Amino acid sequence: MSKPLLLIDTDPGVDDALAILMAHAKADVAGLTVAAGNVGLGHTVRNARTLVDLVGAATPVFPGCPTPLVRMPDEDAVHVHGVDGLGDVGFPEPRAQASDEHAVQAILRLSREHPGLTLVALGPLTNLALAVRLDPSLPQRVARLVIMGGAVTGQGNTGKIPAEFNIGFDPEAAHVVFEAFPAFDLVDWEAVLRHAFTEEEFDGWLAAGDRRARFFEQVFRTARTFNLKRGRRGVIVADALAMAVAIDASIVTRSETRHVAVEMDGRLTRGATVVDWSARLGHPANARIVMEVDQARFGAMVRLALGA
Ligand code: RIB
Ligand code: CA
Repeated sequence: MSKPLLLIDTDPGVDDALAILMAHAKADVAGLTVAAGNVGLGHTVRNARTLVDLVGAATPVFPGCPTPLVRMPDEDAVHVHGVDGLGDVGFPEPRAQASDEHAVQAILRLSREHPGLTLVALGPLTNLALAVRLDPSLPQRVARLVIMGGAVTGQGNTGKIPAEFNIGFDPEAAHVVFEAFPAFDLVDWEAVLRHAFTEEEFDGWLAAGDRRARFFEQVFRTARTFNLKRGRRGVIVADALAMAVAIDASIVTRSETRHVAVEMDGRLTRGATVVDWSARLGHPANARIVMEVDQARFGAMVRLALGA
């Protein structure tokens, strides 16, 4: 199978970091377009540069939007990813430089240069929303859009019960993207929880891996500690699951195709992904909701990314 060409929009972020390692191990990467989300844009851009240094690739880094489209976010994810977004390990200034080209322009240019690429959204959808508003023909040049986001039965991970972080950070952007792309793969938070690794197997990969494993073990400590405090079972890496689906669509063993919309106004529900499970309203189904993947193949991709 030929390697897919991925354009990755990301808010690194420790799980973004593992996803980016996976992408460079199994695919061709056209670029990293960077969003604000887990932490501020200054940190997420620097973290993307650090990751490009780590993988030793010439992957371009394109800074994106520093804030959501309309309302400032209620929260960030410093408590999970650390103040700097990579576990506050304190890495030196990266050698890789960021491009002068804005992420939104880069998304449009690269989609024209590489029609048929796969767009992987691992953070808030601000950059993608602006790109598709600037050029509504963007979806025609994107073979697949894979989004890590949402909570399809309302079991989210933010201060709004039904909202997942990426969607909740910029609900208006998610609404624009969900309406503009006629079909996308949705890897939601609930699927992520169903596909956790055991502590034992993950620690085995970290021990057997190379410098990438040593890097990830360091940056992942804050998130692991937080997840344990939250009583979450196993090793949870949301963006890694979305990246596995983006790299190889055949890893999906069960999915449901439905119409998914985004709540933008609810006092208790802003950022919720609302699924028409019984197709009652008759809107065209826009999302292939990933329900199950082949866990062994998912683990194999993670192991490869860690050099284990
Ligand atoms: O809800 C999990 C998502 O929010 C992941 O993409 C994580 O990196 C954060 O951006
Ligand atoms: Ca992310």
